[in-house]
Amino acid sequence: MRPSTTTLAGAAGFVLLAIYLFVSAPPELPDRPADASRSIPAEKALALLDAENAAIRALYAREIVGEGTKRGLDFREDWKKDGVAAGPLPALLLRETSNRLQMDVPELGLFLGSDYPLVKENLFKGEQARHYQEVKKTLRPKFFFDAAQGRTTAMFPDRASAQSCVTCHNEHPHTPKKDWVLDEPMGATTWSYAGRQVSSETMLRMVALLRKSAVDAYASYLQRAERFEGGARPDIGAKWPRDGFYLPDRETFRRAVEAQNSASTLNTVFETLQSQPGDPR
Ligand code: HEC
Repeated sequence: MRPSTTTLAGAAGFVLLAIYLFVSAPPELPDRPADASRSIPAEKALALLDAENAAIRALYAREIVGEGTKRGLDFREDWKKDGVAAGPLPALLLRETSNRLQMDVPELGLFLGSDYPLVKENLFKGEQARHYQEVKKTLRPKFFFDAAQGRTTAMFPDRASAQSCVTCHNEHPHTPKKDWVLDEPMGATTWSYAGRQVSSETMLRMVALLRKSAVDAYASYLQRAERFEGGARPDIGAKWPRDGFYLPDRETFRRAVEAQNSASTLNTVFETLQSQPGDPR
């Protein structure tokens, strides 16, 4: 059987993705076969980015914040303040990631919003506020084109998956809502892209840059942790909080993200590229 053009394009995308995901400094675009630059609906690219981001956030929340807290590491809202020996809460790691990503890919936006946020910058506005009400009811992701912003937008519900989410948000001094309960939607991870279509090449580049931004955000915590005073300073190297009072260094963390995410991301990309009809242009 002859391979179809879609299969070939999928294969080209696969090779490109492998280059992007397994090379640590990916931003330079390699020469590419023409087939690899077909366009994909921006919704699909945003769904892929969200899956990658959710997996990194879960790894950080479980292995660094969850296990680290048991070993005596601290994670706080004011982790960047002088004299505070703490790391970023998961929502703040996401913000660090998003700031870095926006510098590299200005047409891409990442934002964790809510209708009852702890900080007012996280309040949904405009079209997003309206669509979030639907996300809250259906508990399903929502994709729409925000005409005012000219952006394809994707909202993924963020639910109170652990009692710690509920307790911390209910007890926060600035909380506008004190009756959060387990499993309740607390907000939505919101992605936006300035356009309706993305070339497969751009999609792959964005996935690689998201991963790099998240790893760099983690590394910014390490830079502070290296300077924690005396007993508050964990050993930074190849070990994880699971093993004791340790933090994985940048490379160890990066490799764990890579090992955890690459296979599923590759599969999704492969399916996405294969399911596309011929070049729409
Ligand atoms: C120890 C406290 C703490 C825990 C635990 C915590 N959060 Fe938060 N969360 C915060 C803080 C502080 C912010 C505001 C961060 C910022 O400045 O953007 C925040 C922000 C958020 C936001 C953005 C809207 C807002 O409130 O500003 C969402 C949504 C959210 N958290 C959901 C969760 C979920 C879901 C969990 C559990 C999986 C969780 N949080 C666990 C403290 C916490």
